[in-house]
Amino acid sequence: MVTGSLTGEVSACKGDASVPRVRWQEGPDQKAALWRSESGAPPPRRVELAGDATRAAVAFHQACEGTSLVYRGDYRNARQLLAAITRRLEERPPSSATGDLRAAFQAHRQHQSTVHQVLSRLLVVLDGSYELELRRAPVVSEACLEVWGPGDGSSAVSLRQLVGMIGAHEWRRSGVEVAALGGRVHPHYGVSARIRGEYVDLVADAPLRRAARAFDLGTGTGVLALVLARRGVAEVVATDSDPRAVACARENIARFRLEKRLRVEQRDLFPEGRADLIVFNPPWIPAQPRSPVERAIYDPDSRLLLRFLQELPEHLSPDGEAWLILSNLADLLGLRPPGLVAQTSAAANLTLRGQLSTPARHPRAQDREDPLYAARSREVTVLYRLGLRGSSTAGR
Ligand SMILES: C[S@@+](CC[C@H](N)C(=O)[O-])C[C@H]1O[C@@H](n2cnc3c(N)ncnc32)[C@H](O)[C@@H]1O
Repeated sequence: MVTGSLTGEVSACKGDASVPRVRWQEGPDQKAALWRSESGAPPPRRVELAGDATRAAVAFHQACEGTSLVYRGDYRNARQLLAAITRRLEERPPSSATGDLRAAFQAHRQHQSTVHQVLSRLLVVLDGSYELELRRAPVVSEACLEVWGPGDGSSAVSLRQLVGMIGAHEWRRSGVEVAALGGRVHPHYGVSARIRGEYVDLVADAPLRRAARAFDLGTGTGVLALVLARRGVAEVVATDSDPRAVACARENIARFRLEKRLRVEQRDLFPEGRADLIVFNPPWIPAQPRSPVERAIYDPDSRLLLRFLQELPEHLSPDGEAWLILSNLADLLGLRPPGLVAQTSAAANLTLRGQLSTPARHPRAQDREDPLYAARSREVTVLYRLGLRGSSTAGR
């Protein structure tokens, strides 16, 4: 049962502009909490209370029209309310009847964005030790500590994000089996955990000439750097621009006791020097990321891909080889001009020595209900083998 006024004002804290706060009215009390949003969304402006007696239809309507709801009551009821709002959103999928895959992709992303915004409006409050202020709530302090570090007063977060953090905590604990490694990789929250067997297997199987030193760019969990070490590369320098990925890759490398041969640096693309083998699995889709974790998936205007190809000759040993891993999904969706890799490589004095490819095996490639099924069902993952034009091993 929720008591108190159902309206409240929220604004960023005036005292410290770098710490956004949510404010709301609860009975006679003005409440405030640190605002935690992974996507960097500003604190909500309109906040009311919800609780065990709140009907899903009412909460759905409020969330759709921009009101955030601080849940007070039972944790499981809060989860049920979130599930009920999700079901209502799923009843209105975007229409893709025109057969235009690019338009279908854009409608799909717009729908995902709306879903994210609406679902992010159901909020829960945690105290300074990350205990949820809800009955029958699970212990979430470890998951919160991993993502946010030590607490500092109470926090407000969307229940959806918190559920994601709990799932990520479990994943980080149990890890993901990677057949090519004969072991498990442990992803951290916010780090690309979509470790698909098909691209890992391409890196595990591609013909490897002697390579004393390799780079793994955008290493994420460190999975491909680990595969290279397993294949006998003596020294691997892995980079990632995201500090969470750097911490995650270091932890995984330590679990495999490979710290002496694998080093991780926080960097924009290339480390110092040259390497005999440079591996890059970039974000595959040319579109704007909407949150930090989406930087692993979306590369606006293929800028990162183009920079990689243009800067590659400065970092490759004279006889070295680069393995660029890319899915053709963006080409099938009409988001990337056909032949972009070949043309940019040729302009950068690179030659294509060969390519390995494999059909996508993820479940969405088989899901006929998926709005992008026509493209996903034809998706192929490709490993391009690139060398410097005129090198002695060109064409091998
Ligand atoms: C598709 S994920 C690949 C992760 C991992 N290599 C794998 O194969 O599972 C792309 C990675 O590139 C990283 N990244 C994005 N922009 C980058 C940049 N400018 N420099 C270095 N890494 C970057 C992201 O943080 C992400 O970890």
